[in-house]
Amino acid sequence: MSSSLSFLATTASPFHHHHSRHPRKASRAPTHFSPSASGPSTNATNNKAFDNGGDKESILRLDRRNVLLGTLGGLCGAATLGRKNTAFAAPLQPPDLSKCQTANAGSEEDPLPVECCPPYTDNSKIVDYKFPSPSTPLRIRKPAHLLNADDLAKYKEAYRLMKALDPSDPWSFEQQARVHCQYCNGAYDQVGFDVPVNVHFNWIFEPWHRYYLHFHERILGKLIGDETLALPFWNWDSPDGMTIPSIFNDTKSPLYNEKRNQNNLTKVMDYHYSTQNYEDKYTEEELKLKNLYEMNTTYRESLPLPELFHGDPVRAGEEASIGKTMGRIEAIHNAGHSFVGMAKAPYRDMGNLASSGYDPLFYCHHSNVDRMWHIYRQMRGNKVDFNDNDWLKSSFVFYDENRQLVRVQVEDCLNPQKLRYTYQEVELPWADRNMIKKKLVKTKSGVKPRSTTSLVQVSEFGPDPRPLDSTIRALVQRPKKSRTKSEKDDEVEVLVIDGIELPPNGPISFEVYVAAPSGGDFVGPDLGESAGRFSKLPHTHIHKKGNAEKKKCSLKLGISKLLEEIDAEGSEKVVVSLVPKDGEVTIGGIHIDLIKTDWRA
Ligand code: C2O
Repeated sequence: MSSSLSFLATTASPFHHHHSRHPRKASRAPTHFSPSASGPSTNATNNKAFDNGGDKESILRLDRRNVLLGTLGGLCGAATLGRKNTAFAAPLQPPDLSKCQTANAGSEEDPLPVECCPPYTDNSKIVDYKFPSPSTPLRIRKPAHLLNADDLAKYKEAYRLMKALDPSDPWSFEQQARVHCQYCNGAYDQVGFDVPVNVHFNWIFEPWHRYYLHFHERILGKLIGDETLALPFWNWDSPDGMTIPSIFNDTKSPLYNEKRNQNNLTKVMDYHYSTQNYEDKYTEEELKLKNLYEMNTTYRESLPLPELFHGDPVRAGEEASIGKTMGRIEAIHNAGHSFVGMAKAPYRDMGNLASSGYDPLFYCHHSNVDRMWHIYRQMRGNKVDFNDNDWLKSSFVFYDENRQLVRVQVEDCLNPQKLRYTYQEVELPWADRNMIKKKLVKTKSGVKPRSTTSLVQVSEFGPDPRPLDSTIRALVQRPKKSRTKSEKDDEVEVLVIDGIELPPNGPISFEVYVAAPSGGDFVGPDLGESAGRFSKLPHTHIHKKGNAEKKKCSLKLGISKLLEEIDAEGSEKVVVSLVPKDGEVTIGGIHIDLIKTDWRA
């Protein structure tokens, strides 16, 4: 194994639970919950907004949300706090179940209201979650493409039963799917704030989805009376697992969903997949190697700085994405969504967060997203990702396999063993960077030596925002050149693209490359090495307070290792290239920061 990946040695280390435990009092509440007791009726509105063939009028409802829709701002809005903000930040609190409202799967300008409220609305029925006893069997999540016949039969039967339940039952597939929409399309506001709840584009992305899958998996198991039932994972970080697992392509299976891009059913998923301007220019082998290379880069650059992996902090009263960065793992995961989802607006099911939960593949996709977090934590020796109570104490509510509404918090899900599941250990083919590189150079699009012919002159980005309508190449000053090893151990070099202004809807993506100048202001024609990409799925969230000038977010990418690799450590400046793919984006500026890290390989 190459020395650059010596961090993999920690993979086999046992789990530690670093953070302290805080016993909480469970409030007494009835253990059973009757879905018929309250809540909106669900049978008539099931996912209907997507199915009515464009006649939006018929499903528009004049509730508070829709009245607001006309005045909402952009997708990445102003860094404002909602009305009842205090001076002190605090962890995110669970939503007020009694205040669910019509969600929006479209945009502010072109709303697509969708009913995704759950049948439960009574906050007094919520109790603190009682974690499964350590003596219950560990569920072992396995790679979906290697699932044996027995496991497959159980998995299918569980979904068959889930889909057969009355759609008003919180265990039903309909209600399970709605949960995702509730937490990303503005169905709830944060308690005490005029700010929507959003589990994407911020540091609760991984923990929230971990709990979502946990309860989903336990309900599936309960339905077939099997405590060991485990969600398989779509092993898209392995060359053999990079296509949609074939078990999802059997049209007679309950795992099947016809709302997928029919062109991609057997293709290799590209971590840089874009919905609109995708160039299908690589062979399968090249694509697989490029994906592995990207996964390696993701870990290598993000291990010292969890915000680069997870996304930026969002505390109570803050809106996800405003002035913030999405984590690198979320960006890769977005490619999976876009790749599977339908190619046209409203991009359902997987291609739109409001409808993603309607595809059984979603849960299998997220099983791997969760596994990537698990591996990330192992590589960091299980050091707590954010030693910050606003993360650790962030809490959510789910409906569990005992028909109970339960409250959970982030700090209790860091160790999957506590949730009584684990992942089958499989090879990590992306771990050995040198091996991947060697294979890549042999392909025709491989990592080429930097061209020194036909040099072009580049200048700085400039003070004003620029539309990214064609490739932008800009010279960017580094805070410090020729950093020593100990300086690098203390601070991570981070490329920041900020003031990113997004169009109101549709998928958005652009690519980022970094090259060393060939001397002065001149650089070769090659864009250089990929540093990462920005991607956002169509309708990730609604902002109420944003306004046209301020709908901005940012992208942060670690480049410490990359600069060594391209021999740019001695350069005062680097050349950053932004290449547009989906959507019309405006860029505010590009700069490089040094950010303190407390983690060392
Ligand atoms: Cu909540 Cu894959 O997104």
